[in-house]
Amino acid sequence: MNCVRRIKDDLLYVGGSDRRLAKFENLFPLPKGVSYNSYLLLDDKTVLMDTVDLAIAELFFENLAFGLAGRPLDYVIVQHMEPDHAATLVRLLEKHPETTVVCSAMAEKMIGQFFGPIEGLKVHVVADGDVLDIGHRELLFSSAQMVHWPEVIVTYDPKYRALFSADAFGTFGALGGNLYADELDFNKDWLYEARRYYANIVGKYGTQVKTLLSKIEDCDLDFIFSLHGPIWRKNTRWFIDLYHRWADCEPEEQGVLIVYGSIYGHTQNAAEALAARLADRGAHVALYDASVTDVGDLLAESWRYSHIVIACSTYNAGIFPAVENYLLDLHAHAFHGRTMAVLENGSWAPFAGNLIRRHLNEMKDIKLVEPFINVRSALRPEQAEDLDKLAEVLWPVKQTVATSTTHTAPLQQETPLVDPNALFKVSYGLFVLSAREGKQDNGCIINAVNQITNMPNRLTVAVNKLNHTHDMIVKTGMFNISVLTRSVDFSVFKRFGYQSGRDVNKFEDFEGSYARSENGLTYLTKTCNAYIACKVVGTHDYQTHTLFVAELTEAKIIDKELSVTYDDYFDHIKPKPKPTEKSVRGFRCKICGYIYEGDTLPPDYICPLCKHGAADFEPVGFDSPAEKKQKGFRCKICGYIYEGDTLPADYICPVCKHPASDFEPII
Ligand code: FEO
Repeated sequence: MNCVRRIKDDLLYVGGSDRRLAKFENLFPLPKGVSYNSYLLLDDKTVLMDTVDLAIAELFFENLAFGLAGRPLDYVIVQHMEPDHAATLVRLLEKHPETTVVCSAMAEKMIGQFFGPIEGLKVHVVADGDVLDIGHRELLFSSAQMVHWPEVIVTYDPKYRALFSADAFGTFGALGGNLYADELDFNKDWLYEARRYYANIVGKYGTQVKTLLSKIEDCDLDFIFSLHGPIWRKNTRWFIDLYHRWADCEPEEQGVLIVYGSIYGHTQNAAEALAARLADRGAHVALYDASVTDVGDLLAESWRYSHIVIACSTYNAGIFPAVENYLLDLHAHAFHGRTMAVLENGSWAPFAGNLIRRHLNEMKDIKLVEPFINVRSALRPEQAEDLDKLAEVLWPVKQTVATSTTHTAPLQQETPLVDPNALFKVSYGLFVLSAREGKQDNGCIINAVNQITNMPNRLTVAVNKLNHTHDMIVKTGMFNISVLTRSVDFSVFKRFGYQSGRDVNKFEDFEGSYARSENGLTYLTKTCNAYIACKVVGTHDYQTHTLFVAELTEAKIIDKELSVTYDDYFDHIKPKPKPTEKSVRGFRCKICGYIYEGDTLPPDYICPLCKHGAADFEPVGFDSPAEKKQKGFRCKICGYIYEGDTLPADYICPVCKHPASDFEPII
């Protein structure tokens, strides 16, 4: 039974997958199998994009016959002659003697090398920039030499703005029903295999990959059809950008890869002791035993991380073989551009370290850092200091997650250096953050949205724990962000910012002003220029707020109007506070205008409307004639009055936390 998949009316997937092959190229383990993609264009002419590996020949020919439905096959474009794609070429030509082979001059030569003379062979040789008219479009060919062999060409279909990319953008892994990358959890289930494929198969040819990328730079590609792995029909830019990074051998992640070769476990122990110290400093650490990890995995992980440590026993007066194999693989793939360190072990003649460093010195842009750690048989307690030092050199900035509420710095020293008003100079946007729990929709106003990475696209939002939306996100792990525009009305802020979802349904009487994204959550459709749907991938506790780290699941621009800023809100949107009645004496929230009546604002006071703290309140009504007669000291920062004849030298303003030096006597 055929397994043809219809991509477009005139474009079919006729390839298949192999889940039995143990090793690709008899070298790279295939725990998840591999696909051999082949595509059939049905224009006025019929065109096949590459054949497949012998392993799936039966299915492929059944697919092809079904796809052609009795039509002749006019062309087979041989983009790549490696047998995983071309092994079935002769059988194809036997079945379809009418077919003309379209390929590069070098591929034509290779056909002869692989198959010998083929009776009646018709070849149409194409070079960079050549086109082939197939009826309703002209296919454009481009050389992609050394991606991954020298004869490779890629093909551009202008009708679908599609690149048939040969091995480029390929990945290990069998396809099982879902053909498209956007149907899969690519980052979780495929990225590792895509990186492993890139590093091992194409990684050596970064310069040639860059040449190919420069050729497609101006094409706004809607599709990428690789010969291996899923089809890209969304977010092609993301994968192209990742390819740029891989081609430059730039690390994808800040983190430390430790590869060790250990005979009886002592070198492993040293590697683990270093890993623990790095982890304590906040580094992400990936630790591998070279003896039990395929070298292709080690190569791919090397491509991934910014720092690498090689810990190795001396063996036969040389480098432990599994580690030496890893080093040779790095060499063979022109690996470069990392910060690296070496730890060696040797019981009587430790040679491994120097030999490893010699290897590394021959690679481009390798920064070798000290101390160089020499273990004699087993790590000694007095070497802990060297391990600490190496961990610090590799990961100098200690990163911690602020979960503690303890202030270790004395307030008196800290406060004069921090003017909280400076934070108002930071430019913010304003957003409706929406969530859904069960059947309840809710939302609140936030300003702290930041994109932190783009591969993958991740952002953070900081949400006050008092907000009902906060609790809903904690429970569901999902939220949407609606980016508000300059024409947003104050009523939106009142609806989402001045009442609690615990008390009211904020979406009641709001029909026509919102819609739902694929995740079922709401987003605003008016005075909103974009919405972003997110899945939480991490949380950090910051006392009053939770910082949610999230990955994007959907994002769309829905309007061209500019985004509103925090300043716009204060200058043009938020109604100016009405002059305060002389009789009202208290503290006004600078954010929403709420007035707390009383002479003293509790330092831990939270605005019941907008949930901002005491620092965002300003005194009102203290300028009455009666007040002027008051004895005491006024805080020059926030206006708070300390009543009394003498201000204690260590006094701290209970509202803005400024010290006695910021107070002035009331005259
Ligand atoms: Fe998929 Fe280079 O062959």
